[in-house]
Amino acid sequence: MRVAIIGGTGVYDPGLLEGREETTVTTPYGEARVSLGRFRGIEVGFLTRHGPHHSLPPHRVNYRANIRALRDLGFERVLATAAVGSLNPEMKPGEFVLVDQFVDFTRCRESTFFEGGEAGVVHVDFTEPYCPELRASLARAARELEIAAHEGGVYVCTEGPRFETPAEIRAFRILGGDLVGMTNVPEVVLAREANLCYALVAAVTNFAAGISPTPLTHEEVLQVMAANTARLRALLERAVEMVPPVRHCRCGRAAGPAVEG
Ligand code: HPA
Repeated sequence: MRVAIIGGTGVYDPGLLEGREETTVTTPYGEARVSLGRFRGIEVGFLTRHGPHHSLPPHRVNYRANIRALRDLGFERVLATAAVGSLNPEMKPGEFVLVDQFVDFTRCRESTFFEGGEAGVVHVDFTEPYCPELRASLARAARELEIAAHEGGVYVCTEGPRFETPAEIRAFRILGGDLVGMTNVPEVVLAREANLCYALVAAVTNFAAGISPTPLTHEEVLQVMAANTARLRALLERAVEMVPPVRHCRCGRAAGPAVEG
């Protein structure tokens, strides 16, 4: 069994890997660097979303290369992390949310593998955007480790890289959002198009603009992430062990035949 981890802001260290080696995968969309190793006998891959030294802002991340690389390396499961702001008073800084829906407000990203041509015109069902089986593994791991993790939450994805206005945050709340971030779309979309199981642990680093009493800064996000990285890593490690060896979900058939090109 193989599980890949995509580390978001503040999660750069594939420390859990034994026998770690770096590989660069060339895809039709560009290159992606992945660390490969083992954790308690399970083959684990680790990819930092924002590249080495957090050099890529959310709208410049090569999401297609990242997901295609993981698929080409044979991974079927992806556990991802992301720092988020919260719109929901119940979801507080320092807490984790196992996201189950998203609302997409991105504008200028390469958001699909299906560009017509030989692959044809493909419309993938997104009734269940995140893998329920992976989310259940994360929820069980959180319960066992007594780590507070909300089971379900709506992630609103903005284009960034700026933070939101208070008026946008009020609008997102009316639309049913709980969390706001800049990276989960198109990552979750591409994972599903590639027939991968994908789950997101969102780490709340701040209340969103207009709810927070102070202006938002990236430093604040990094500080709160740093304070929570140890718990997040423990959660991921236990969840990796709890992922069932064989998939029982529908993710493997989400987009029909495998993506090529
Ligand atoms: N908005 C968007 N992205 C974020 C935030 C936020 O408040 N916090 C962490 N990532």
